[in-house]
Amino acid sequence: MDKSEIMLLCASPRRKGTSTMLLERIQAVTGSEVVFLPQKDSLHELVLVMQQAATIVISGPCYINTYPARLIELLEAAALAGGFSGQKLYGIINGGMPYIHTHQHGLTCLQLFAEQNHLSWQGGFVLGCGAMLDGKPLEKHMNRKTVVPAFDQFIRHIAAGTPSPSCLYEQAQSPPGKIMTQVFAKLLTFLVEKSIKKHGHDPKAANWYLREQE
Ligand SMILES: Cc1cc2nc3c(=O)[nH]c(=O)nc-3n(C[C@H](O)[C@H](O)[C@H](O)COP(=O)(O)O)c2cc1C
Repeated sequence: MDKSEIMLLCASPRRKGTSTMLLERIQAVTGSEVVFLPQKDSLHELVLVMQQAATIVISGPCYINTYPARLIELLEAAALAGGFSGQKLYGIINGGMPYIHTHQHGLTCLQLFAEQNHLSWQGGFVLGCGAMLDGKPLEKHMNRKTVVPAFDQFIRHIAAGTPSPSCLYEQAQSPPGKIMTQVFAKLLTFLVEKSIKKHGHDPKAANWYLREQE
């Protein structure tokens, strides 16, 4: 990779999901290649590519309020290897929940990695309701009117190499109100219980880890 190039790294194990779709939207402007985080093989090659890039854009899903463990493993391998000198780093995290604060930790994690390893943190984009898209275009997002222009502005920041402020994604998405949250929570509980029953278990049974050991 040429030192002037932009590396687009997908941290989702799902190659046709929302993380990839967002990178492909950037790719349409910057022309860069999308690289997928290997789920089994060594991370060494990927660290070398990161060291060579001028700009790194990482897009991944929110798994239990932050990025998947495999990405954290990559960041640890990269920190151990060292060799970074001012590479610009942008992050994107998308989660199923229609909130921003529950996914925000992913970006904080990237910011800390950048600050401690001589990369230059340029900000990121948090997207709620990413699961509903499931890889479909951003134009299908429930907040499309504000999210599409905000994300396109984020892409312009990447192309220009300028920092992207958090207000860009914060102002583009408003969380559902109390009543909608109640309805949403009940619907999700119903779906989870249905799935548990379908697999032959009792959703009301005590958690396996919390049961007293006989
Ligand atoms: C193991 C696992 C954990 C998840 N944890 C969260 C979570 O904590 N919060 C959330 O909003 N979504 C969570 N999700 C949903 C994903 O973030 C969501 O489906 C996302 O759009 C997947 O992105 P992708 O299509 O790029 O893989 C989780 C999904 C999986 C499989």
